[in-house]
Order: sequence, then structure tokens, then C-alpha cells
Amino acid sequence: MSKRRVVVAHVDELAPGDVKIVPEGKFGVGVFNVGGEYFALTNYCPHRGAPLCRGKVTGMTEATDPYECAWVREGEILRCPWHGWEFAIKSGTTVTEPKRQVKMYPVIVEGDTILLETGDVR
Ligand code: FES
Repeated sequence: MSKRRVVVAHVDELAPGDVKIVPEGKFGVGVFNVGGEYFALTNYCPHRGAPLCRGKVTGMTEATDPYECAWVREGEILRCPWHGWEFAIKSGTTVTEPKRQVKMYPVIVEGDTILLETGDVR
């Protein structure tokens, strides 16, 4: 068996901070460029099924000591457009407990082409 590969875009078409939703699978797959690395998540929120990859790409606050916090991980957090659950784009998990996982897919760059690797081809 081998994996099926789908062309996502030329590398110039998906700049850091961009997302492209590819019509793969039942809900589509969002391919994100996070600081020059590519990550692919199913366009389906595990909470109530929103088109997750149409949410805002942002950062998050993190406590730095008991009375201070800092803005961190800018461009690495995806906020669901319906109820605001936040997911780490690099891992597909929620940033709060309990952890929920969004299905992820491998992304490959061959030459100047970004490819999404999906299910097995028999
Ligand atoms: S559907 Fe995504 S947070 Fe509710």
C-alpha cells in the first residue's frame, strides 16, 4: 500500500500565517504555514463540528508568574469560529485540559510544491 498525495499549492502561494483548505475527505483539510513549517488538520472541530480551519490563527496568554502573563505562540493557535476552543496547530490538540485531538495529515514539500499525504491507496 502507498499513500495518496494531493497537490496543495506552490510554496509561494502559502506564506507564513496562511491556510489553504483542500477538498479532501468528508470535511476538507486545512494546510497551515506556521513559521515556514506546514501542518494539516481536518476541517472539523471535535466539539460540535464547526469548520475549524476557517477559525482565526492567533496566539495565547500564558502565566509567567502568579501575577503576570505574556502573549506567546503567536501564529501557532487556531481558534474555532463557533465557540472559541483553541488548538495548537502543530499538534492538533486543544491548549486546555482535557485534551482533544484533531486528525492531522503529513505534509511534504517536493521541490516547490506542497503536497498533502492522505489515506492509503491499494
Ligand atoms: S464547534 Fe468548535 S468550539 Fe464548538
